[in-house]
Amino acid sequence: MSKTSEAVAAAERWTAHNYHPLPVVIADAEGAWVTDVDGKRYLDCLAGYSALNFGHRHPALIAAAHAQLDRVTLTSRAFIHDQFAEFCQKLTDLTGKDLILPMNTGAEAVETAIKVARKWGYLVKGVRPGQAKIIAMEGNFHGRTTTIVSFSTDPDARDDFGPYTPGFQLVPYGDLAALEAAIDENTVGVLVEPIQGEAGVLVPPAGFLPGVRELCTRNNVLMLADEIQSGLGRTGDTFACDDEAVVPDMYIMGKALGGGIVPVSAVAADQNVLGVLKPGEHGSTFGGNPLACAVGIAVIDLLRTGEFQERSRELGERLHTGLAKLIGDGVTEVRGRGLWAGVDIDPALMSGRDASVQLMERGVLAKDTHGSTIRLAPPLTITADEVDWALEQFHSVIA
Ligand SMILES: Cc1ncc(COP(=O)(O)O)c(C=O)c1O
Repeated sequence: MSKTSEAVAAAERWTAHNYHPLPVVIADAEGAWVTDVDGKRYLDCLAGYSALNFGHRHPALIAAAHAQLDRVTLTSRAFIHDQFAEFCQKLTDLTGKDLILPMNTGAEAVETAIKVARKWGYLVKGVRPGQAKIIAMEGNFHGRTTTIVSFSTDPDARDDFGPYTPGFQLVPYGDLAALEAAIDENTVGVLVEPIQGEAGVLVPPAGFLPGVRELCTRNNVLMLADEIQSGLGRTGDTFACDDEAVVPDMYIMGKALGGGIVPVSAVAADQNVLGVLKPGEHGSTFGGNPLACAVGIAVIDLLRTGEFQERSRELGERLHTGLAKLIGDGVTEVRGRGLWAGVDIDPALMSGRDASVQLMERGVLAKDTHGSTIRLAPPLTITADEVDWALEQFHSVIA
């Protein structure tokens, strides 16, 4: 029995089956590559669903984490620590917003956005108590909490987890007329992924995000952009909203903010929005801890060079040009932007799961979603040769 089979069997035996991982057992990683327990190397084309935008163990991020580990790692928010202000200040610089509220996971940041939008609705907009409504999009993925799955349209994510949290209304993604019709005097927020990642890397029609912005402004509603997967360089810009020069009222960030080392999430908004919170109304023991802030500062410093956004733009073009050539040749459609692609495999040929298993056997790690779509989101540190090699492996799987 290989070490891999043993470790796969042990994982099956001892864990809840809330995931269906590929049978690869990773022992080491560096840059865009991981090595399994049997010594086989793989090109990581998933990058922790964009949590590893800077690759595995980026030297600057690891150095920041090591330095912080030797000093102080956790204080709770009962005290202030010496990394906190710098992290928040640098993140306000990156987002152009006044204030930051740090949390840990993406779902917590989304919950924060929901709570803040509701509170803003009551205190600032003057919505009657208990009436606040948030509009979300069909096909959304914002996390796994009971409130968030209440407005999921994915039966796997939602079914049997009720009773559901009220106060949400869904409209089709990309449909401005439906959004306009749904907005009423109780609407406090529109929650939107600038590109829907889990749904299969769905890019909305041009003009949709500016349209959402305009409708929100006109109706005194907060635009809440979930940039947890799309942000921080993934699409070739710092934020996916930048592509159409849209500035939401709140950026919701996570994943890559923790450099692939620690869970770090945050929301950024102006004083008139985040200022509605008072002590005791929201928080998290680990939110904004010293280790998270030290890594987060190093992440923001990397983003401020613009190098990763540029790599994503240039290499993304290479990736999309290569993938477009596969259309009609086992691939039916390719979507995405920058180093991020949703590739629909012809279901007559094979399932997305089969394709990801065959890619794995050829040394490329990627993951399927919704039956026949493969998601590609390699680290932004990937090289042109590695992109070409991954495309060759993709081609041989479907050829
Ligand atoms: C757009 C989006 N929002 C929220 C989340 C939830 O983040 P987390 O898994 O860190 O809770 C994800 C995770 O995939 C995501 O892609």
